Amino acid sequence: MRPRSEVLLDWYRDQSRDLPWRRNADPYRVMVSEVMLQQTQVERVIPRFAAFVDRFPTVADLGAASLGDVLDLWHGLGYNSRAKRLRDAASVVAADGWPTDIEGLQRLPGIGPYTAAAIGSIVFGHQVPAVDTNLRRVISRWRGEPLDGADLTTAATEELGTTPAGVWNQAVMDLGATICRPRNPRCGECPVVDGCADPTVYVPPPRQSRFEGSLRQLRAQVLRELADGPAEMSELIEIDLRADEAVSALEKDGMVSVDGDRVALAG
Ligand code: ADE
Repeated sequence: MRPRSEVLLDWYRDQSRDLPWRRNADPYRVMVSEVMLQQTQVERVIPRFAAFVDRFPTVADLGAASLGDVLDLWHGLGYNSRAKRLRDAASVVAADGWPTDIEGLQRLPGIGPYTAAAIGSIVFGHQVPAVDTNLRRVISRWRGEPLDGADLTTAATEELGTTPAGVWNQAVMDLGATICRPRNPRCGECPVVDGCADPTVYVPPPRQSRFEGSLRQLRAQVLRELADGPAEMSELIEIDLRADEAVSALEKDGMVSVDGDRVALAG
């Protein structure tokens, strides 16, 4: 039997989704797309990615942008502190150049192990699996048990073998998104169903608590309010009694500055 990773790559070459950030391996475009895709679905990201790189075509353009301008273009993607960290990462890269190793990528603001591995493999040719919840589900099913932590990384590294990691990681992402879905996997269409140990292994995606969800919405609402200019804390509390909690969290993330009772978008 041919190795699973080779069969997967053949399938990917035929079936891969034509996504705008895949058209070339430009590190800036890949970084923007991977940060957008951290918590947002592909279909939602596509139009916003196009508008974003249109407005900020280079890493230097983004690095020099104000937070307000970046948030304008981030609208609809959610998790706004990602936008600030992405802008901050762009400004580090504009000053110092691209780090090309995984450790250096991971030192950029907002770039965690998954995103560093995705950029490192897609752009810089590093032979590492990009471990996220999709990959976790796919590999766990191939192996027949829910894997996590070091066991998951070891299994993913074995599965990857010597196939080019940038392509393999994106093939696993596509398989997880279109066929090996969390519920009702389409095993009848799966190119690597032979040898899959147990497609019923269910690895639930991480869920956000209702409390975190509502604070997140409030944070977004406060930012929309501040997009028109600074506001008094008392005005924000009129919108919602938990506005002070949202403002503290936003201040901690560097999204807003607080001077006495006056709250403003950070620069
Ligand atoms: N999800 C995260 N990164 C992705 C990518 N490069 N392509 C498709 N889906 C993704």
